[in-house]
Amino acid sequence: MGIRIRKTAKYLPKRIVPNSEFETFLDTSDQWISERTGIKKRHFSSKEEDTSQIALMACEALGLTEEEKEKIDAIFVATFTPDIVAPSIAASLQAPLGLQEELFAIDFNMGCSGYVAGLHLAEAFLKNKRMALVLGAEVISKVLDMHDRTTAVIFADGAGVTLVEKNEDAIYFDEGTRSNLKDIYVPGIQVDVPLGALSMQGKNVFRFASRTLPDSMERTLAKAGIRGEDVSHIVCHQANSRIIEHVAKKAGLPISRFFMNIDRMGNTSSASLPIALDDMVKNNQIKPGQWVMLMGFGAGFSWVTALFKW
Ligand code: UT7
Repeated sequence: MGIRIRKTAKYLPKRIVPNSEFETFLDTSDQWISERTGIKKRHFSSKEEDTSQIALMACEALGLTEEEKEKIDAIFVATFTPDIVAPSIAASLQAPLGLQEELFAIDFNMGCSGYVAGLHLAEAFLKNKRMALVLGAEVISKVLDMHDRTTAVIFADGAGVTLVEKNEDAIYFDEGTRSNLKDIYVPGIQVDVPLGALSMQGKNVFRFASRTLPDSMERTLAKAGIRGEDVSHIVCHQANSRIIEHVAKKAGLPISRFFMNIDRMGNTSSASLPIALDDMVKNNQIKPGQWVMLMGFGAGFSWVTALFKW
């Protein structure tokens, strides 16, 4: 048994911030950001927009039918930037979306691996159920120190969602965790300390991703008994175009197999993969029956890879 992605949708905040905007208050340049990350612009939410809202907007864009609403048994929301600690964003979506109350609704945090982790959870949950919403939603701009050029120019806001249902085809996963509490870090609620900003040791994360992803790809292909050449679309978390280029080279696969939208999205963490999937669907890039590989990685350190037929 496996799962199939039935529908995709996204919501991107209206405010588009080009690299040139950072040049006005940071010691940085459009050239450095483009060359070192692949990013040219990103979306930042307005003061009023929070993670729950953009998650709801993305779900509304799915255009759920009454039949689908009745069949949704679970909502999995991946986020490390919830606007409120409790209740969950997942719980807040039930009534506005008109979903039934016999619903398992949960938020979880697995950093940028969150969306693929959500598919993993959905696959396990749906064994005896019908459909689930799997989301990644982040308003990272609110935990950025805009005067830290090593993070401010990289991260971005957005929400992506998929409606998944169970099917007969297998889905293959590879996942891992390696305790690293300093290289990507956002302080939580601490006595007498105001919420602090995200910090990242980019080089260490880059090294972790470049070494881990090719190995995870190999293990996942072995589980499915197929070769890299058989996979039509490899969609890596959009953190840095140079990481994706490295993975392509290590796998000996053409870069054209690797989807990229980081130039216009920046790094939206758990939202990056469902946003990417929605872009691919809207551009008619994925065809039924094609093998698709999704690779999430990030804070923790953590990684989750999924391989399945579209
Ligand atoms: O989503 C979670 C997973 N996250 C990632 O995968 C992030 C992985 N890491 C990266 O993408 C890259 O490490 C960064 C894009 C964050 C940084 O690129 P880098 O090529 O690793 O740069 P670096 O940290 O080695 O810094 C090189 C130089 C430094 O200056 P010095 O020490 O050589 O004088 C930095 O201070 O670039 C400087 N620098 C900048 N210069 C202009 C760092 N940020 C900037 C900037 N503009 N925004």
